[in-house]
Amino acid sequence: MMRARLIGLVTVSLLAANAGAAWAQESGDARAGRAFARGTCATCHAVQKGETHSAVAEAPPFEAIAAVPGMSAIALRSVLTSPHHRMPNIVLTPADMADVVAYILSLKP
Ligand code: HEC
Repeated sequence: MMRARLIGLVTVSLLAANAGAAWAQESGDARAGRAFARGTCATCHAVQKGETHSAVAEAPPFEAIAAVPGMSAIALRSVLTSPHHRMPNIVLTPADMADVVAYILSLKP
């Protein structure tokens, strides 16, 4: 009984360690993400630090998105992989996704 539990714990922590490694690999390049955002997201969003007015008023500036308490890569990825009401269903490659997420998180205050 005790033994089975211990094995379970070890398995869980190994999985967590693997997930951590995968996450690190996907952690993206904020500078590339900035260039990508200027090309793809800026038609609607204010994407740069200090920009507070988005081209589309309903689209929150990236700095404001980054400032939402608890904003994380996981939250951003889930927004960017699910279709949004007024946001076209932009399909990002895994690399673009990682870069743009890294960029948005780099704007955290
Ligand atoms: C055609 C306009 C348009 C484009 C292009 C666009 N967005 Fe958006 N986005 C919006 C609008 C409008 C909202 C707010 C309403 C909604 O969530 O549907 C939004 C919401 C978001 C949110 C959620 C904010 C929150 O707090 O829930 C994120 C994150 C986001 N956009 C990221 C991006 C990224 C990254 C790109 C570029 C790859 C992008 N958007 C391109 C219009 C756009």
